[in-house]
Amino acid sequence: MTKPSHLALCAAVLVTAASATWSATAPAPGDPARPLRSVASFGTIRDQAERSAAIFAEAGKVIQSPRCLNCHPATRTPTQGDAMRPHVPFMVSSDGNHGPKGLPCATCHGADNSRTFAAGIASVPGNAHWQLAPIEMAWQGLTLPQICEQLKDPKRNGSRSLAQIVTHMNTDHLVGWAWEPGEGRSKAPGTQAGFGALIEAWVKTGAHCPRA
Ligand code: HEC
Ligand code: HEC
Repeated sequence: MTKPSHLALCAAVLVTAASATWSATAPAPGDPARPLRSVASFGTIRDQAERSAAIFAEAGKVIQSPRCLNCHPATRTPTQGDAMRPHVPFMVSSDGNHGPKGLPCATCHGADNSRTFAAGIASVPGNAHWQLAPIEMAWQGLTLPQICEQLKDPKRNGSRSLAQIVTHMNTDHLVGWAWEPGEGRSKAPGTQAGFGALIEAWVKTGAHCPRA
């Protein structure tokens, strides 16, 4: 792990202070050290296809963040942390997405981030729907243009329309967890609402993918 800069530490302190006053129903606040550009800031790109691809590239900062990639691995083994190291204890979610027989994800992963596990681990990430993304939705090892094409392919996106992809990004619990990842993990850039708005704008502008 790289040493956090003084600035990042200050930001972390600010975020901790802010979260104390934030209610459980309000959307998770973003980390000021990890901003996401607004849809409006792309208005200067006149060509619509180019604007669409640029908006997707910005959303890619979230999609390719460790919070998402750790659960969308290329093998049946989830990865952990910002360094995306193999899951410890070793874990293979064979055919199902919930872990091997007798050791489901929920053995350790609770409904929220409040569980602890062992010394040195601040919290076990948790959500009531915790499970591994199916293999056809693997993102690790793909380039952003490849992920973009995969997201649009019903054979590899859970038979979703583009409108359903927008809804998933805006409202899904596991997607939302990336902005409330629990102690010891960095948040995905921006906020879920800002990210959802980028995905919506990407679809509205023709869902063009960045060039490889
Ligand atoms: C705890 C594990 C987990 C995390 C964290 C997670 N996902 Fe997923 N994701 C899944 C699972 C499981 C599915 C399959 C669910 C389904 O098809 O209904 C999925 C499916 C998806 C899909 C729909 C299928 C596809 O690939 O097109 C999208 C889009 C998606 N995730 C985006 C994200 C994004 C963006 C993040 C981070 C902000 C994220 N996910 C974080 C487990 C996770
Ligand atoms: C025996 C306990 C145990 C089981 C079972 C387990 N995990 Fe974990 N998992 C952990 C612990 C502990 C951590 C936190 C490690 C850390 O932060 O250093 C973790 C972290 C993770 C992370 C990293 C999140 C992030 O972004 O850093 C993912 C993804 C994950 N687990 C997925 C799964 C999935 C999917 C399953 C079921 C197929 C599963 N785990 C089963 C104990 C377990």
